[in-house]
Amino acid sequence: MESYDVVGPLDTAPYYAVRVYSGCLGTKGGPRTDTSGQVLDVDGAPPRRSLRRWHRDALDPRHDVRRRGRDAGPRDGRRLQVGPARRRASARGGGVTRFEGRSAVVTGAASGMGRAIALALAAEGASVVLADVNADEGAETAGMVERAGGRAAFLRTDVSDGGDVRAMVELSVSVHGGLDLGVNAAAIENETLPIADCEEATFDRMIAVNLRSVFLCMKYEAQIMRASGRGGSIVNIASTNSFRPQPNQAAYTASKHGVLGLTRAGAVDHAADGIRVNAVCPGAIETPMLLGAIKARGREKEEVARRLSLFGRFGSTEEIAKAVLWLGSDEASFTTGHALAVDGGYLAR
Ligand SMILES: NC(=O)c1ccc[n+]([C@@H]2O[C@H](COP(=O)([O-])OP(=O)(O)OC[C@H]3O[C@@H](n4cnc5c(N)ncnc54)[C@H](O)[C@@H]3O)[C@@H](O)[C@H]2O)c1
Repeated sequence: MESYDVVGPLDTAPYYAVRVYSGCLGTKGGPRTDTSGQVLDVDGAPPRRSLRRWHRDALDPRHDVRRRGRDAGPRDGRRLQVGPARRRASARGGGVTRFEGRSAVVTGAASGMGRAIALALAAEGASVVLADVNADEGAETAGMVERAGGRAAFLRTDVSDGGDVRAMVELSVSVHGGLDLGVNAAAIENETLPIADCEEATFDRMIAVNLRSVFLCMKYEAQIMRASGRGGSIVNIASTNSFRPQPNQAAYTASKHGVLGLTRAGAVDHAADGIRVNAVCPGAIETPMLLGAIKARGREKEEVARRLSLFGRFGSTEEIAKAVLWLGSDEASFTTGHALAVDGGYLAR
C-alpha cells in the first residue's frame, strides 16, 4: 500500500511531491515491489533502477562539474563553482547561499536537530531529501521547507535497512540530480539500566539504528559522490558520548564511539575521491530525545542543564545546524576526519 501526499504544485515543482511508503512495499532482499509483485522504482514507477544505473545518472552531463565550473577540483580540496544559481542569488541580495545548486540528504529529519538542519540547508539554497521513520512529522518538515520557499522531498526511511537507505540516496539523484551532502542524524536513545541489566535486544537495536545506519548511509552516499566525480561532504551526528559515557547508556555510548570511528575511517578511505567526512558531537540539546531521556530518569531539567553545560542551559537545534552547515560547506574545505563538539563546554571540564 502506498500513500501519497503533495506539498506544493506538482506541475511546476515535482520535487515537492512527498511520497510516503508504508511497510508492505518490499525493500528487504530484493527489488521494491507493490502488493501485486510489480517492481517499482523509488518514485513508484517501474522498473527499479540498478546501482549501475544510478552511477550512470550521476555522471549525466547535467551533473558534470565541468559544466558547472571549469576550475572545480574536489580532489585537491578546491572550492566547487556552482555557477548561475549562486550568482543569481547574490544578485538578489539574498542571505548566505553556501548550498545554492547543491543537493543534500538529511536523516532523522522529522524532529529535533534533523529538522533544524534540513530547514537551514534549504534556507541556504540546498535541495533536500528528508528521511525518517516518522512519516507524518517528516512530511511536516517537507511542508515547512516548502512554505519557507525551499525544495524538499520526504521519503519514509528506516535507516537500519540497506534497501531503504539506497532508495533515499537514489531519490536525491532522481529528483535533485545528484548528491553533494549527506547529514546522518537519525538515532534512538532509550536506555536507563547499567550493562549488567541491559537486554541483548536493546543493545542490538541501538547498534542497528545508531551505528549500522551510519555505515549504510555513508556507504551509499559515498558511492554516488565518488561516481559523480565531483566529491562531496558527509556530516555524521555523533555525541559527547563518543568521548565520555553518561551512566546507564552503554549501548548508546558504544554506538556513538562507533560513529566517530566510521567518521575517521570514511575520511581516510575517501579523501582521494574528494569526499570529506566529519562529525558534530552535540552536548545536551533541547529536543524530544533529550527531554524524553530526562523524563525517563526522573530528573529536573535545570539540574541536568547545569551539570551538562558550562553555560547552565541546553543548546538549541539551530546551534547544531550552524556547525553542520559549516562542516558541510566549502568553508571547511581543508577539514576532514574531525569531531566538532558543540556542547556548551561540557567536554572541557
Ligand atoms: N538531544 C541531545 O541532547 C543529543 C545529544 C548528543 C547527540 N544527539 C544525537 O543527535 C541526533 C539527533 O537527535 P535529536 O536529539 O534531534 O533526536 P530526535 O528524537 O528529536 O530525532 C531523532 C529522529 O530520528 C528518527 N529515527 C529514529 N529511528 C529511526 C530509524 N530507524 N530510521 C529513520 N529515522 C529514525 C526519529 O523518528 C526522529 O525523527 C541523534 O543522532 C542523537 O543521538 C542528541
